[in-house]
Amino acid sequence: MKILLTGAKGQLGQALQRTLTAHAVTAYDHAQLDITKLTNVRDAIYAMYPDVVINAAAYNNVDGAESDPLSSYRGNALGPRNLAVATATAGIPLLHVSSDYVFDGASTRPYHEFDRPHPLSAYAASKLAGEDAVRELNPKHYLVRTAWLYSAVGKNFAKTICALAQQQSEVRVVKDQIGSPTYVPHLATAIATLISTQAFGTYHFANQGAASWYDLTCALYRQRGITTPVQAVTTPEFPRSAKRPAYSALMTIQDPTILLPTWEEGVVAFAKAISEGKGTV
Ligand SMILES: NC(=O)c1ccc[n+]([C@@H]2O[C@H](COP(=O)([O-])OP(=O)(O)OC[C@H]3O[C@@H](n4cnc5c(N)ncnc54)[C@H](OP(=O)(O)O)[C@@H]3O)[C@@H](O)[C@H]2O)c1
Repeated sequence: MKILLTGAKGQLGQALQRTLTAHAVTAYDHAQLDITKLTNVRDAIYAMYPDVVINAAAYNNVDGAESDPLSSYRGNALGPRNLAVATATAGIPLLHVSSDYVFDGASTRPYHEFDRPHPLSAYAASKLAGEDAVRELNPKHYLVRTAWLYSAVGKNFAKTICALAQQQSEVRVVKDQIGSPTYVPHLATAIATLISTQAFGTYHFANQGAASWYDLTCALYRQRGITTPVQAVTTPEFPRSAKRPAYSALMTIQDPTILLPTWEEGVVAFAKAISEGKGTV
């Protein structure tokens, strides 16, 4: 397949380029293609008429969005809207990526694709607006919600918390937020399968199971042989600008044949990648 990929330098953008080697991928980073510019988006898409467009670009500053919601809406709503407009005109499928944060966390079981979103923050509202635009404007859409992404490359919680262990005598981590930590290469593999199905719709792709940030930290430290003590704290003890859902674990009922490994297997794969020098902390 001919694939146009946006957000090439992000965590997912990089993993997709490593995964989609059987396809002809043209990858654009932010400087090469700003998805908030409709003319540029149209020019890039119509220059190659790809078989599918994958949008891995996003504004991901969850706390920053509270003070700068317009930047969040530009990256997460206007950008996907532009991609949906340009792809729909040419009948090209669009795969867009959204977030577990579109849910409010009131659930006591993992969220599936037919649960109703209710965003709590400006970032989450902008991601939901992006979903709505894609659904409304291009019927040939794959909308993939994922969660708590980390990989050996890029900026993410797993790398930050491993680096902190070298700088602090003790690390404090929130225990009352539960989600689905997801190792990005596992997500990239699932996306590679999905794009050839032509089964358009919304999908929840995350590593299986649920964990708190505290659980994830303990598992990362165990795998990496880090002995720095980890202290569990509550959300009010660790105030942030943006409200996060207390519970946002994801599950899929849409396509149970495309299941990601468990979150613990994600941690093992991450530690292996770091020890093999495929990234640094
Ligand atoms: N990270 C998570 O924990 C998480 C959780 C749930 C869902 N998601 C979603 O998963 C997807 C992939 O996330 P990720 O972690 O791979 O993100 P990432 O590492 O932050 O990468 C996003 C990329 O998008 C680029 N970008 C930002 N604005 C752009 C624009 N207007 N035009 C073109 N490129 C732009 C960024 O470039 P610059 O850095 O140069 O701006 C960056 O390279 C996103 O849709 C994200 O919302 C992420």
